[in-house]
Amino acid sequence: MSDALTRFDEGLQLILAELERGAFQAATTEQELREANARFVGAQGSLTQLMKLMRELPGDARRPKGQAANEVRARIEQAFQGRLASLEAEALARDLAAPFDVTLPGRGVTPGRLHPITRVKHELLEIFESLGFEVVDGPEIDLHENCFDRLGFPPDHPATDMQDTFFVTHRDRGDDVTTLLRTHTSTMQIREMSRRPPPLAVVSAGAVYRRDDDATHSPMFHQIEGFLVDERVTMADLKGVLQRFLERLYGGEVEVRLRPSYFPFVEPGAEIDARRPGGSWMEIGGCGMIHPVVFEHVGYDPSQVSGFAFGMGIDRMAMVKFGVPNIKLLFENDVRFLGSF
Ligand code: PHE
Repeated sequence: MSDALTRFDEGLQLILAELERGAFQAATTEQELREANARFVGAQGSLTQLMKLMRELPGDARRPKGQAANEVRARIEQAFQGRLASLEAEALARDLAAPFDVTLPGRGVTPGRLHPITRVKHELLEIFESLGFEVVDGPEIDLHENCFDRLGFPPDHPATDMQDTFFVTHRDRGDDVTTLLRTHTSTMQIREMSRRPPPLAVVSAGAVYRRDDDATHSPMFHQIEGFLVDERVTMADLKGVLQRFLERLYGGEVEVRLRPSYFPFVEPGAEIDARRPGGSWMEIGGCGMIHPVVFEHVGYDPSQVSGFAFGMGIDRMAMVKFGVPNIKLLFENDVRFLGSF
């Protein structure tokens, strides 16, 4: 017997003996099992090494020894697959037998929430409601006359320019009716006063549109409009309402300053500035005493009633409240940003 033949036979016996001693049974994980398998048939495995002896065997022994080796290989494969199946069955049985822990935290469903602008808007409306104002809603597409003409804008006012306003003209019952995306919520003064007699105290908030686009201006933004009409209403009433409103909003002392300004639909007109103790002045909107021409356009008698109106930007207040540096962030609908408030 050649030396190679002896070594081959002994090697095969050793492999079989190792298999029978339970080389695979000892594996308790799939990882361990695959490692054990590789020790037989991997690149450095004992059977793989043994096969290299093949070409040293006498010619007539190669065929029967090759068959013997293949049988051993088949037994290894069978034992491997058998153990793999039993490991999987054991894992499944363990899972099924494990107690079901009802106290484990569930997989959370992240609830939706209101947009920061909506939250600030609700807060503002609630304050005015508590001061006795009625909350109303109005359309974002409105008539040219409600947005401009009946508010006393002259026909060639720059605000009515294509550069500043988004127009949506359409034909209605054969007439040419000019409609547009409202450029301010002052449309609500005309709409509400036209539909009922004084006295009234109304607030309305919503989106408005202008052809503006930079870090602090978005083509769509939000305003809150308030107006009050009665007998003998004065600018002191206006300032008092703004003062109360801002105190509630900021939860403390606030200074209010009315800085003379011009809007076609008020006289006198002013910018509203506010300042908290130690802070700097911040412009928050416009206001004034409703112009007699507006009363005439809605069928009120300017000699009988007077009133005030104010309009404020909501987005700027939300930016200050939440520390948002760029107005665009509010409208990009990125939940990573919106969810951070
Ligand atoms: N509508 C004005 C604007 O958008 C603000 C305003 C409202 C001014 C009411 C006076 C009275 O700029």
